[in-house]
Amino acid sequence: MSEHWTPASWRSKAVIKHVPDDYPDMAALSAVEQTLRGMPPLVFAGEARRLKSLLGDVSEGKAFLLQGGDCAESFKEFHADNIRDMFRLILQMAVVLTFAGGKPVVKVGRMAGQFAKPRSSPVEKIGDVELPSYRGDNINGMEFTEESRRPDPQRLLQAYGQSSATLNLLRAFAGGGYADLYNIHRWTLGFVNGSPQGDRYAELSEKITEALTFMAAIGVTPETHPDLHRVEFFTSHEALLLGFEEAMTRVDSTSGDWYDTSAHLVWIGERTRQLDGAHVEYFRGIQNPVGLKCGPTMEPDDLLRLADALNPQNEAGRLTLYGRFGSDKIAGRLPALLRATKAAGKKVVWAIDPMHGNTLTAANGYKTRPFDRILSEVKSFVEICKAEGVHPGGVHLEMTGQDVTECLGGARALTEGDLADRYHTHCDPRLNGEQALELAFLVAEKLKEDRVGEAAQRLVAV
Ligand code: PEP
Ligand code: CO
Repeated sequence: MSEHWTPASWRSKAVIKHVPDDYPDMAALSAVEQTLRGMPPLVFAGEARRLKSLLGDVSEGKAFLLQGGDCAESFKEFHADNIRDMFRLILQMAVVLTFAGGKPVVKVGRMAGQFAKPRSSPVEKIGDVELPSYRGDNINGMEFTEESRRPDPQRLLQAYGQSSATLNLLRAFAGGGYADLYNIHRWTLGFVNGSPQGDRYAELSEKITEALTFMAAIGVTPETHPDLHRVEFFTSHEALLLGFEEAMTRVDSTSGDWYDTSAHLVWIGERTRQLDGAHVEYFRGIQNPVGLKCGPTMEPDDLLRLADALNPQNEAGRLTLYGRFGSDKIAGRLPALLRATKAAGKKVVWAIDPMHGNTLTAANGYKTRPFDRILSEVKSFVEICKAEGVHPGGVHLEMTGQDVTECLGGARALTEGDLADRYHTHCDPRLNGEQALELAFLVAEKLKEDRVGEAAQRLVAV
C-alpha cells in the first residue's frame, strides 16, 4: 500500500471494481466531476465526528446502531412522502429497540446518496437481447433499452441534487418537531392495533405507553424538554462510485483532515473489499466513520488486515463491520471473525446485515427474501455475539416505509403470488413498513430476554 494518499490515489490501483469506465464520453464525466468539486458539501465534518463518537459508544456496548433504507434510491421514487415515511419508520423502530435494549439507538438512514449498485453480472439478457446491467440511477437507467443502459454523467448531478433535497427535508424533520417522541409512539400504536400479530406486540407497546405517561406526569414532555422533540439522524451509503466520492472529498478547516462530505458514514461492499483495491485505498484516507461488509468468504486474517488498513489507530467508532452471511451460514462463519477481532483488541462495532445472505429467486422469477430467514439471522447474531462476549451492536436493513410486496412472510404472510402486486424496488427486495416494524418488535423481544437474563445474573452475583 503506497504511503502517499490523495482523494485521487485510488485511480492508480490495478484493481478497481464496479466503477464504470464505459462512459461514451469520458471527458464529459471529468467535466461533471469538476462541477461537483465546486458544489457545497452535503454534510459537515463535525457531524461525521459526532457519529463516530456515537459509534464509539456502540463499540463499547453502550448503544445500538439502527441503519436502514432502500437498497437503491431512485429518481422515480423521489418524493417527500417516501422520505417522510422512511424517516418515521426508522424512528418508530428506534423507540421500540431503545425501550427493549435499555440503550440509546444511533439512527442512520441508507438515504440521501444510496444510488450506485455493484452487480453480479455486467450484462443482462432478456430473450435474445443482451444489454449492460442497470447500475443505479446515478449511472444509467433501469429501462431495458440500449439508450437507457448507457452511462450518463449528467445523472451524477441529478443524484447530487436529489441527495441534497432529501437531506434538507431530513434535517427539517429531525429538528423541526416531526420527531416528537409522543407522536412517534402514537403511530406505533396504530400499527399494533392494525397488525394481525398485534397481540404479540401489545405488551411491549403498552409498557412504552406507561413509561411515556409516567414521564409526562412528572413533567417530562416535549414542551419542557425540547430534546424529546428532536432526534439526531445521520445518512450513509455504499461509496462505490469513487469518482463521485473523490469530488465530494474536502479538507475540514477545523482539523485539517480529509472527509467524504457526501454522507456521514460510507461503507465498502462485499464485492469491493480487496485489500489492494481502489476502494480500500480511498477509504483509508478519509476520517468519516466507515463500514465494511463481511460475507461468507471473509477469513479472520483478511479481516484483521482490512481492519489495520482502515483503522490503523484502532479508533473506537471508526470501523463498523456488517456480517452478511445468510441464516444458514452465520453459525459457521461469524464466531471465528468475532474471536479474531476480540483477540486482536480491535475496537470495532459488530452489526448484522440479515438481507444480503438471504436472497432467493421465487418460482415466478421474483428476487425475494423470506422474513423468517431475516429474523433468524438477526437472532443467531445476537446469540453468537453473546456466546463470544461481543456486543451485538446493531442491524443494517433494506426496507421502505411503503406498503410494497417484495419480501415473503411477516404477519400478513405474503406469498410468492403476492410479490407481483407492488414490487417496486430498483434493486434488492425490501421489508415493507409493517414487516420492518414487526422485525423491530421481534428483535426487541430478543434483546429484552438477554437484558433480563443479564440483570438476573447481576442480582445473583450481589
Ligand atoms: C447492499 O448493501 O446493497 C449490497 C450490495 O450489499 P453487499 O455489498 O453486502 O452485497
Ligand atoms: Co442490496
